[in-house]
Formats: sequence, C-alpha cells, structure tokens
Amino acid sequence: MRLVMLGGPGSGKGTQAKKLSEHFNIPWISTGDVLRAEIAADSLLGQQVAETLARGELVSDDLMIDFIKVRLQQPDAAQGWVLDGYPRTAFQAEELDFFLETLNVQVHYVIWLELSAHALIERSENRGAIDDNPDALRRRIETLAETTMPMLEYYDYRQRLMRVDGNQPPDDVKRDILSGLSR
Ligand code: AP5
Repeated sequence: MRLVMLGGPGSGKGTQAKKLSEHFNIPWISTGDVLRAEIAADSLLGQQVAETLARGELVSDDLMIDFIKVRLQQPDAAQGWVLDGYPRTAFQAEELDFFLETLNVQVHYVIWLELSAHALIERSENRGAIDDNPDALRRRIETLAETTMPMLEYYDYRQRLMRVDGNQPPDDVKRDILSGLSR
C-alpha cells in the first residue's frame, strides 16, 4: 500500500500516518520529523533548513525531491509506505509520479484531512515545536493555501484523492480512511 497524507499543520497527518503504518506494516516517512531531527542534531542539513522551518516556509523542492528518492529506495520501503508531509507542492507531486514510474509503482491513495484554519492553529499551539510559534504557524497556513491546495486538483484529476473529515477523534478519522481504502 502506497499512501500520501495531506493536510494543514496540525491536521493529524502524523497521527494518522503512524496508525496506517502500524495497520499495514509499512514505514511511516515524515519529512517534517526528519528535518526537525536534523536540526536537533545540528547536522549540515539541519543548519541549512533551520531558519526556513522557523519562518514556516517550505524547504527547497530540490532538497526534498533528492531526499525522498533516496528514502523510497531503501529496503523497508519496497512493499509500500505512508508519506507524511511529502509531496508538498505540485512540482513535488509530479516529480514523485515520474520517479515512481521508474520503479513501476504508483501512489494508491492521497488522503486529504479537512479542517478549518482555526482548528489547525489550536492543535499546533498545544504542541510547541520549533515552527509552532504564531508567525510561523500563520505562514504555514498561508503556504498551505498557496502551494498545497493546487495539489488537490492534481490528485483529484487523477482520481486518487480521498477527502476525510479531520475534525473528529483520531480513531474515527482512521475508521473513515480504512473504509475509503476498502471501497
Ligand atoms: P511537517 O512536520 O510536515 O509540518 P506540518 O504540515 O505543519 O504538520 P505537523 O507535523 O505540524 O502536524 P500533523 O498534521 O502531522 O499533525 P499531528 O499528527 O502532529 O513539516 C514541518 C516543516 O518542514 C514545514 O513547514 C516545512 O518547512 C518543512 N517541510 C516538510 N516537508 C516538506 C516538503 N515536502 N517540502 C518542503 N518543505 C517541507 O497532530 C498535531 C496535534 O494534534 C497533536 O498534538 C495531536 O495529538 C493532535 N491531534 C491529531 N489528530 C487529532 C484529532 N483527530 N483530534 C484531536 N487532536 C488531534
């Protein structure tokens, strides 16, 4: 099973990706968590991206595309994966499809967790990560509208988009996703 989780900051992508990863026994790949871990480790990559994350901006497409190509070729990803935070732009989505074509596989479903901006802010404020300050959060929600929303059209057109109400308890969100996947 190859799944993509889409949604705003705090929409529950990570929460659901973890559940789906356990359910299907596939790796959960969170680009945001990888970047935050690199920052915490003060690695070269972490130093390159720290300011970008703190501003709530997106890291460059080139960097993320290269990262994901390497990650998806690791042995644990051979039978499937759930991507959390990638793709983030229409360009990343296209590049992902091109790359998967070379591996003779494709994304099965792209799951869009729908929540209001108000609900997104409330959830992220409770978490308190490096990029959860009010300015960065506002910027992340603007970025969502500017760059992530066009991806919905991309996947909708290809009939791979599943819309799920993210404003319900986590297990209910999971139930709706599993029911969508079995249709
Ligand atoms: P990323 O980590 O992907 O940030 P995000 O989209 O802002 O998402 P979050 O991780 O904050 O939230 P989430 O949707 O996973 O929700 P969660 O399950 O944690 O990316 C961070 C940054 O990295 C980006 O801004 C960018 O700079 C960079 N980046 C990453 N990928 C990139 C890419 N591809 N290209 C370029 N740049 C990239 O839940 C949040 C909270 O809500 C938790 O406390 C949780 O317990 C709670 N919660 C979850 N579900 C529910 C529920 N159903 N009901 C009540 N509470 C819930």
